[in-house]
Amino acid sequence: MKFEVKTGDISKFKCDAIVVNLFQGVAKPGGATVAVDAALGGAISGLIKTGEFKGKPGEVHVLHTLGKIPARLVAVAGLGKKEDFKADSVRNVMAEVIRSLARHNCDSAATILHGTGAGGLSAETSAEAIAEGTMLGGYKFKKHFTKKDNGHDVDNVTLLDKDASNLRAVKRGTGTGRIIAESTMLARDMVNEPGNHMTPTHMADIAKKVAEECGLDILVMDRKQMEKEAMGALLGVAQGTSQPPKFIVLTYKGNPASKDMVGFIGKGLTFDSGGISLKPQEFMSDMKGDMSGGAAVIAAIRAVAKLGLKINVTAIVPATENLPGGRALKPGDVLKASNGKTIEVVNTDAEGRLILSDALSYAVKKGFSPLIDLATLTGACHVALGDQYAGVFSNNQALADKVVKAGTEAGENLWQLPLPDEYKEMNKSDIADIKNSGGRYGGAITAALFLQEFAGVKPWLHMDIAGPFMAEKDKGVLVKGATGFGTRTLIRLAINLSK
Ligand code: BES
Ligand code: MN
Ligand code: ZN
Repeated sequence: MKFEVKTGDISKFKCDAIVVNLFQGVAKPGGATVAVDAALGGAISGLIKTGEFKGKPGEVHVLHTLGKIPARLVAVAGLGKKEDFKADSVRNVMAEVIRSLARHNCDSAATILHGTGAGGLSAETSAEAIAEGTMLGGYKFKKHFTKKDNGHDVDNVTLLDKDASNLRAVKRGTGTGRIIAESTMLARDMVNEPGNHMTPTHMADIAKKVAEECGLDILVMDRKQMEKEAMGALLGVAQGTSQPPKFIVLTYKGNPASKDMVGFIGKGLTFDSGGISLKPQEFMSDMKGDMSGGAAVIAAIRAVAKLGLKINVTAIVPATENLPGGRALKPGDVLKASNGKTIEVVNTDAEGRLILSDALSYAVKKGFSPLIDLATLTGACHVALGDQYAGVFSNNQALADKVVKAGTEAGENLWQLPLPDEYKEMNKSDIADIKNSGGRYGGAITAALFLQEFAGVKPWLHMDIAGPFMAEKDKGVLVKGATGFGTRTLIRLAINLSK
């Protein structure tokens, strides 16, 4: 997608489609939409009068201009009620607009800076949201089709502002939005990629490419090195597959004067069959996406580096498959994690917490703080919160508040769940320090409590993204399939922490 930033009057701009907007509940168009409405003989005000268009969030109406202005089409974008309006309204409606214009065979579009008037957004924030929403909404995973699809893609978008003094800010915003969207799409690509392609080795190769592209330090440990580190829990999960496991560590030092290092840790299960505690066949194929947390942390550190943020971040991804077989982990086995704690494996399908126990122990040993882990960890979290909220758990309320706020700003919904000491007894084992499943009830919580045992005493937060890692249909910035969930929250958090 190519973005251009220009000054001028949108009603006179020549391209396939121009994009203007309306707030919900207004009687007449405002801002730059007024001139377009006038040029079209009041066609937009007419839509409001007849109730054909209400300006609801994400609503899009496409009008044919029939030569009244140079553009062939006008897309009217609904911004929702003024009091509910935020940057995310712009992202989501631009995503809808871009899919709609593609269906109308458009190659080029121009848009005004939504929400900069009555909406109260700065030109930079609006431009960022436009770029991000446009790119994410137009995302497609086409790699494995052998036939070229004949569908259109809008690949030229011009951001038009009347005010020349805003141009630099608009360019900066567009650049930021592009980096955020490209990184999120990298995460989506990784998650959409089937398990036979997205092996731990392939994940490590992508991490290497990101490291090269962004000048990051990279360490990829193989089975031997994991043995040296005594990562018995990760190795236990990995013993059932012939795919070599990888322990991926990417480091970005944007603030060399500081010793602080934030740790982003992501579950990298490139396929989770459940192991000997085999999953039912329905939806098992979704488990190619069980590396969504790992994809998000690799994607996020890419953006952090591209944005040149003044912060130090290390992304850690324990990557393996979880398969049944002659060498596989068995229910009842006992493993020893690298911090010395023993774990009774009562269910081989609760493998995420096993590999994360070694990743968290590694981050603790390195002294990283705060630690933030992302994982498609429990079906229970999906059941509790549905597919539009991730669960967050933390031993530090200030950190939880920061992450939830970053999520809200980024357009990702997070909901904090409790970490009650009283539930720890559900994870008690008769023969080891802890067991890897606390049973059905409160399953997301007991999983988080398990992780807490390996997270140490410094601020730590766990995000269970089992609900939102996939989308069932196109909606706003989400496109059916992988969402890249968590990437944008981590980027926004890093931006906020770096200030
Ligand atoms: N990867 C799954 C969790 C999951 C399920 C993510 C559905 C996304 C969608 C995880 O490894 C798992 O199998 N968890 C078990 C834990 C249980 C055995 C304690 C679960 O949720 O059933
Ligand atoms: Mn599992
Ligand atoms: Zn899993």
